Amino acid sequence: MTTSALPAPLSSLGAPSMPHLVSTANALVAGDKGLLAIDESIPTCNRRFARLGIAQTEQNRRAYRELIVTTPRLADSISGVILCDETIRQHTTDGDPFATVLMNAGIAPGIKVDRGTQPMAGHSGERVTEGLDGLRERLTQYVALGARFAKWRAVFTIGETLPSRGCVQANAHALARYAALCQEAGLVPVVEPEILMTGEHTVTRCGAVTEDVLREVFSQLHTQGVALEGTLLKANMVLPGSACPIQPTVETVAEATISCLRRVVPAAVAGIVFLSGGQSGDLATTRLNAINAADRQPLPWPVGFSFGRAIQQPALTIWGGQDTNADGAQSAIRHRAQNNQDARRGEYARTTVLAPT
Ligand code: 13P
Repeated sequence: MTTSALPAPLSSLGAPSMPHLVSTANALVAGDKGLLAIDESIPTCNRRFARLGIAQTEQNRRAYRELIVTTPRLADSISGVILCDETIRQHTTDGDPFATVLMNAGIAPGIKVDRGTQPMAGHSGERVTEGLDGLRERLTQYVALGARFAKWRAVFTIGETLPSRGCVQANAHALARYAALCQEAGLVPVVEPEILMTGEHTVTRCGAVTEDVLREVFSQLHTQGVALEGTLLKANMVLPGSACPIQPTVETVAEATISCLRRVVPAAVAGIVFLSGGQSGDLATTRLNAINAADRQPLPWPVGFSFGRAIQQPALTIWGGQDTNADGAQSAIRHRAQNNQDARRGEYARTTVLAPT
C-alpha cells in the first residue's frame, strides 16, 4: 500500500537513505495524481512561444512558469512538477523561489538534469543524451534548491534498421549512471527512454522496439546497482508512428502498451508514468484512461502520467504572453490535470474535455 504523504526534505533529515527515496517515489505516484512536466529547455520553450507569436525572453518564460506553479488547487491532481535548470532558479513576482511555492502547496519539485541530445558518432540519424560530466555536483546543488526527484530523457528513432544496438546500449548505460548518481544524492530518478512517434512504423513494431529498449535499460540499471523500489519509469505508450496509415483503436494501444510493459518492467519499480510525446491532450488522456480502465489482472505497478504538452498546450495558447489571460490559462491547466487524474482511475469521460472553465 503506497502513501501519498511526501516525506520531509533531506535537508531536515541528514544523509540520503533508501527508505526516504522509496517513500518519495511512492508518494509521487500514490492515489490518482500525476506529474506535470514544465522542463522544456530554453530553445524548446522559445520554439513553442515563437509559434504563438510570444516574445522569446527570460521574463516571458518566467511569467509563463509562474502562472503554472501558482495555479490554484494544482495539488489536487498533481504530485510533482518537473522544472528545468533556468526555472528552478527563478522566483515569483513576490520573490518566492518556484521550488518553495510548489513545496508549500504540497507538490514535489523535480528537475530535468540531462543536457539534451547530440548526434551520435558513427550512428547516422541517432542521438545520445549528454550530461554525466559534473552531474554529481549539479545534483547536490539541485537538492539544495529543493528538488526531490530528477529526470533524464533518452530518445530512440524507429527506422528500417534503427534503433541500432550501439544507440540503445549507450543511452541505456547513461540512464543507469544518472539514476545511480541520483539515488546517491537522495533524488528519485525518473528514467525516461522515449521511443519517438516520428515515422511510418506500426504499433507492433513500436511494441517490439519498446520492449527491446526497456530490456536493455533494466539490465543496465541492475548492473549499476540502482534500486528499482526508489525509481520511476517514464515510458512512451506503444503507438504507431505518426505517419503510419493504420491508426489502431484506443483499446488496441492500451493492450499493446500493457502487455509490453508487463513483459519487461520488474514489479519492484515504484511506478510507471507516461510521457505524451506529441499526442493530442485528449488522445493521451483517453489512452491513459483505457490503460487503467481495462478489465484485466491488476497491474504490478501504479500507472500514471508525467505529461508536458498534453497538459500545457491549451493553457499556453490561452495565455499568449498576456498577463490578463493568466486566470484562463490556469483554469485550462487545472482542467487538463483533472482530466488525467480521472484517467488514472479509469473514469475519464471524453466529452468533459470540451468545457474548460
Ligand atoms: P511530453 O508529454 O510533451 O512528451 O513531455 C514529457 C516530457 O517530459 C518529455 O521529456
